[in-house]
Amino acid sequence: MYQRKIGKGILGFSAVTLMVSVLLFSCEKYVFDPPELDPDEEVSFANDITPFFTSKCAGCHGGAINPDLRAANSFAALVTDATPATRYVNTVSPETSLIYTKLSAGSHATIATDIEKQKILKWIQDGAQNN
Ligand code: HEC
Repeated sequence: MYQRKIGKGILGFSAVTLMVSVLLFSCEKYVFDPPELDPDEEVSFANDITPFFTSKCAGCHGGAINPDLRAANSFAALVTDATPATRYVNTVSPETSLIYTKLSAGSHATIATDIEKQKILKWIQDGAQNN
């Protein structure tokens, strides 16, 4: 008799635990991770980066404010002609590149999306090619 009661208690406790777990886990599916760039996908400067420089940056960075981010000039401004050469792009330490860090702080914090920032970082990590 006594044994049975304990048995039921354990069963009831297990059932409650199970229900709570199900509730907790069912909430889990409403948690979204921020969008991530596919690490295997190659980022092209011309196709993936230049277009949002044109639409979001060149309005201000159109020659008067450095770097010049107009499509025809952005690669040179960021890589070939930059002084010092690592001013905007640092392939040895990509996360410290100004063209990347600038977009996470102050006046520039909300201009580019997470994916756009990740594309810039990936492009630098892959060697900042004129691709
Ligand atoms: C509303 C105008 C405006 C827009 C849009 C804008 N910028 Fe800027 N940006 C500036 C100004 C002004 C400065 C100089 C003052 C400063 O450093 O914040 C600057 C500075 C910078 C610098 C540092 C330059 C240096 O040599 O120190 C970088 C890098 C930069 N912008 C990148 C970008 C990128 C990339 C975008 C587009 C995603 C962008 N900016 C959009 C106005 C703008």
